[in-house]
Amino acid sequence: MGDRLALQWSSALSLGVPDLDAQHRELFDRVDRLLDSMLHGDRGEASTLAAFLRDHVVLHFAAEEQLMRELHYPDAARHAEEHHAFAASILVLDSAFREQGTTPDLVLRLEHEVVAWLRDHVYVADVALGHFVTATLGTEVSWA
Ligand SMILES: [Fe+2]
Ligand SMILES: [Fe+2]
Repeated sequence: MGDRLALQWSSALSLGVPDLDAQHRELFDRVDRLLDSMLHGDRGEASTLAAFLRDHVVLHFAAEEQLMRELHYPDAARHAEEHHAFAASILVLDSAFREQGTTPDLVLRLEHEVVAWLRDHVYVADVALGHFVTATLGTEVSWA
């Protein structure tokens, strides 16, 4: 199938908030495995991973949004707007998958909409949030 975008968490993406970092790591790992299972035609595994992603994206976004509210993060509205748009596109992709299974179009959209979005959002918006959190609360906060 050739090269594909790999989604791998690295310490450069750390927010300094261990719980959120752990969620990012988990999301990246599952999305990467979802893409693999789709590319290998493993529908059962892909279904499990797609369901995980659908549910955990919502939980993860809620955790970040709660933190932003608690700290009165100035950029909270714009950040949450990015979350909502992404969560909506996840639902569209999830229902396309459940109706048609893995199609080349779906794999392409997963790479370009999900993988690229996650990487860009975490790298820019979440890392900016992380800087604000550690500046406000100190480094290596324990927050849950
Ligand atoms: Fe995030
Ligand atoms: Fe975020």
